Amino acid sequence: MTGSRLLGTGSALPRQVVTNAQLAEWVDTSDEWIVERTGIRQRHIAGEGETTATLATAAARAALADAGVDASSIGLIILATATPDNTFPATATKVQDALGCNGGIAFDVAAVCSGFLYALSVADSLLRTGMAKRALVIGAETFSRILDWEDRTTCVLFGDGAGAVVLEAPSADNAGKDAPGIIGSKLHADGAQHDLLYVDGGPSSTQTVGHVRMRGPEVFRHAVVNLSDVLKEVLADTGFSASDIDWVVPHQANARILDATARKLGITPDKVIVTVDRHANTSAASVPLALDVARKDGRIKAGDLVMLEAMGGGFTWGASLIRM
Ligand code: ACO
Repeated sequence: MTGSRLLGTGSALPRQVVTNAQLAEWVDTSDEWIVERTGIRQRHIAGEGETTATLATAAARAALADAGVDASSIGLIILATATPDNTFPATATKVQDALGCNGGIAFDVAAVCSGFLYALSVADSLLRTGMAKRALVIGAETFSRILDWEDRTTCVLFGDGAGAVVLEAPSADNAGKDAPGIIGSKLHADGAQHDLLYVDGGPSSTQTVGHVRMRGPEVFRHAVVNLSDVLKEVLADTGFSASDIDWVVPHQANARILDATARKLGITPDKVIVTVDRHANTSAASVPLALDVARKDGRIKAGDLVMLEAMGGGFTWGASLIRM
């Protein structure tokens, strides 16, 4: 039996756009360096009144409208974020209240840039066991609030935003190679690498929020190996091959990582959805944001075979194969 079906997608971005040239006015960098090393040209940065919860709620409303379903039918909300509005309660509960669908399950998942992949798998598992009939899975971040704006090696890389999907529990008659839904997922973590990409604060260690710290070149090397391995794993498990894939929707960290990973699998660049140029790295939001962009501009259509993949701090990484 194929897993949960994706009924709709939505996304939201902060109003303010910051270009590389604007960034270069307050940190020692240049448009040329950022574009050449990362492919990023601009990012959206949350302003006053915009938080992870407000962006997540806007993305969730857009996904509900796209799916044509009412918020009252949502029994499960999982929100992936590393930048919650508060240490607790979970930002998912604020979204639930804003949508007016109180009473079901709502919690956050912390797996940084892989958070959406983790949240999607957990939601699919809960829907398969009958814990709820419909779910909202959201990735939402305001990374700008945990950046050290004097550290040019990290602050140029990230942006803010949110993406969401509506999932429906699978039915027994939805089976076969072409049946829509989540076909297979794989998740991994390697805690031995936690100090390559982390935030240097937290409630229990420093009682501060902290800032993002990263050893970029090492992260880059691990990302290409881990992502190509997990993609091969999902293909082997599900019996599909790389040539069957219509679209890859990768975590939007760096255009060079996207290219190198696709090349290792023999996937041509025209099948890879790229939004890193406009959004930069929005961590847990990046995969659902890119998925929504490519659905709304007509590239990803019903029946397409789509691979989602991401890697983030921890390290954590994963991939999901979905028939739209
Ligand atoms: N502007 C100008 N120069 C810079 C900047 C900047 N913003 N940042 C670094 N430099 C300089 C460095 O100081 C260094 O100068 P030096 O040679 O005089 O010492 C030079 O540029 C090269 O630095 P590297 O770090 O070696 O540059 P690299 O080519 O590796 O690119 C980057 C850095 C873009 C961070 C790259 O390593 C990368 O993308 N790594 C992966 C990071 C990533 O994707 N993280 C996210 C994945 S997980 C997640 O999303 C949470």
